[in-house]
Amino acid sequence: MYNSKIIGLGHYVPDNVVTNDDLSKVMDTNDAWIQERTGIKERRHVVKGDGDTTTTMGVKAAKIAIERAGIDKDDIDFIVFATLSPDYYFPGPGVLVQRDLGIKTVGALDVRNQCSGFVYAISIADQYIKTGMYKNVLVIGSELHSHGLDMTTRGRGVSVIFGDGAGAAVLSREEDNTKGILSTHLHSEGQHAEELSLIAPGMGKRWVNDIIADNDPNDESYFPYMNGQFVFKNAVVRFSEVIIEGLEKNKLKSTDINLLVPHQANLRISQFIQKKFQLSDDQVFNNIMKYGNTTAASIPIALTEAWEAGKVKSGDLVVLAAFGSGFTWGSVIIRW
Ligand code: UT7
Repeated sequence: MYNSKIIGLGHYVPDNVVTNDDLSKVMDTNDAWIQERTGIKERRHVVKGDGDTTTTMGVKAAKIAIERAGIDKDDIDFIVFATLSPDYYFPGPGVLVQRDLGIKTVGALDVRNQCSGFVYAISIADQYIKTGMYKNVLVIGSELHSHGLDMTTRGRGVSVIFGDGAGAAVLSREEDNTKGILSTHLHSEGQHAEELSLIAPGMGKRWVNDIIADNDPNDESYFPYMNGQFVFKNAVVRFSEVIIEGLEKNKLKSTDINLLVPHQANLRISQFIQKKFQLSDDQVFNNIMKYGNTTAASIPIALTEAWEAGKVKSGDLVVLAAFGSGFTWGSVIIRW
């Protein structure tokens, strides 16, 4: 059995900055409310027609990660792509990355775990590398939320939170099993599936034909729905549990953490976790202020920025943790 380690990171966000004040021009919201409740100051939105999609943003992030990994694209043995906003209903973006990067006909897997998507994707890549089946795996988290949000006052509880962007990591074989990814921990609780969801278009309740036939301007089924307070309460509990689970598995304590990179759901959630584990500001990386919640892209964007800022050093204990729609949640414990 091998370990896996992250050998390259990259991210890409669209140039278009949308501030809280910009949003207050199209819906009844304001900078004070958004900052107070979420910590978000601005986010990026893809401008329609400029060519960026979930896949193209993922490809841009992946190119940087591959270059920094110091490998050739043809050394990639497998692709894992996490998103809730794929370019097409099918096929998923994994194969589009294989095509657009001109990688040979390796396997490409799409992960549908929303905010936990990147943690799930890392866990999958780690298992393939551990068994020796693959040596280098490209993992991407990318989201284009802005085109699918309800940008009216009706949708303000959700639409002010989410932003667009992508992050990518190259995982590679590590022969020293005290280094790299030490363990991953995944959970789900489908009982709360609809509490943070986008129901249509789907074959279960409402397909496109139904939406067109009803032609109802008040139809909200194709916008994301979130029971914010319920999600918040579950998030703080599950984040804490799954971080503790990962630390205990490796006989570590919270004081051993050099850097926690939580999924950027809400600055208040990150601050709650920071306080609970008595971590300093230097030990928790947040960038939700600049990008909002980019779901599957949030951890790889944050991890890339933390690495670029010199906050991730060889030997550091780095913890990734996520919670989101499903509900799903998970953690990754890394000795960098
Ligand atoms: O990434 C996946 C995981 N996601 C999360 O973990 C998110 C968890 N939840 C949250 O972050 C918070 O629940 C939100 C930020 C989404 C909402 O904050 P909240 O403190 O729970 O607010 P609320 O939904 O209870 O709404 C409070 C008030 C309401 O008005 P009334 O009924 O008190 O008059 C809302 O209508 O704030 C109003 N409101 C807004 N006002 C201005 C809701 N959205 C907005 C808005 N601007 N954008």
